[in-house]
Amino acid sequence: MIHFDFHDRTAIVTGGTRGIGAAVTAALLAAGARVIAVYAGNHDAAKAFQEQCQAGDGQLELACFNVANYQAAEAFFRRLDDQNRQIDILVNSAGIRRDAIVAMMPEQDWRQVLDVNLTGAFIMAKLAVMRMSRKRYGRIINITSPSGRIGFEGQANYAASKAGQVAFTKSLAKEVARRNITVNCISPGFIDTDFISALPEEQLAAYREMIPKKRFGKAEEVAQAILFLATEEADYITGAVLEISGGLS
Ligand SMILES: NC(=O)c1ccc[n+]([C@@H]2O[C@H](COP(=O)([O-])OP(=O)(O)OC[C@H]3O[C@@H](n4cnc5c(N)ncnc54)[C@H](OP(=O)(O)O)[C@@H]3O)[C@@H](O)[C@H]2O)c1
Repeated sequence: MIHFDFHDRTAIVTGGTRGIGAAVTAALLAAGARVIAVYAGNHDAAKAFQEQCQAGDGQLELACFNVANYQAAEAFFRRLDDQNRQIDILVNSAGIRRDAIVAMMPEQDWRQVLDVNLTGAFIMAKLAVMRMSRKRYGRIINITSPSGRIGFEGQANYAASKAGQVAFTKSLAKEVARRNITVNCISPGFIDTDFISALPEEQLAAYREMIPKKRFGKAEEVAQAILFLATEEADYITGAVLEISGGLS
């Protein structure tokens, strides 16, 4: 594992209790950061993850709210303001998929995926950037997907949300570059998490076959790249998309 030092840094990781977000939370904690892991409602998974982390006093906090709900997100940030707490790093990993071919896709599934994946990233980044701008420092990392670049059958809503995240990232990066805030995307290929585990085995085998490295990635492998983008040393990387996909194209 790469050695990172995030002592004196505070991070928010949305979707930080499961999958890629959980691996990011764990890696940040191991590097000395204070982390607030946001999740949607799976309390059992969140508590189990918290116990497994065995973080020091106050080093890991859990916050349960829907990132697509502006009022809830604003209340969360206001609580941090009231406690005089500043945010250095935001990792937007909360995401969902509701797969169906377009002809069969309920409008609600289109809206929900866009709402959580894209609007949720906007809401969290907007509220973070307002605060990061004051201290003239920040690192924001959004999680997109190769699906947004190449498209996948049955994932028009998901692909659109992920392509939107890239456009959002590049635009925001330009807005805040002079304030010492970087905004980047990580684009993981197929990563072994709950997100894909429910897919039928034949489909998983077909996906594995498409990947030059012939295996799915590990959440920890994605986390290491996210931590690099969160360092001070990655200052000149902004508006970028780093794909971690075992060569999938
Ligand atoms: N796994 C892959 O192969 C893959 C590939 C490319 C991109 N990605 C992207 O990577 C990100 C993380 O994926 P993952 O595989 O780690 O997913 P996951 O294992 O399903 O975990 C999702 C996490 O997001 C949280 N979440 C979902 N909706 C939320 C909402 N509305 N508000 C707050 N939190 C919410 C969940 O909370 P609860 O536990 O409470 O539900 C959970 O902590 C997603 O953006 C996904 O699109 C994943």
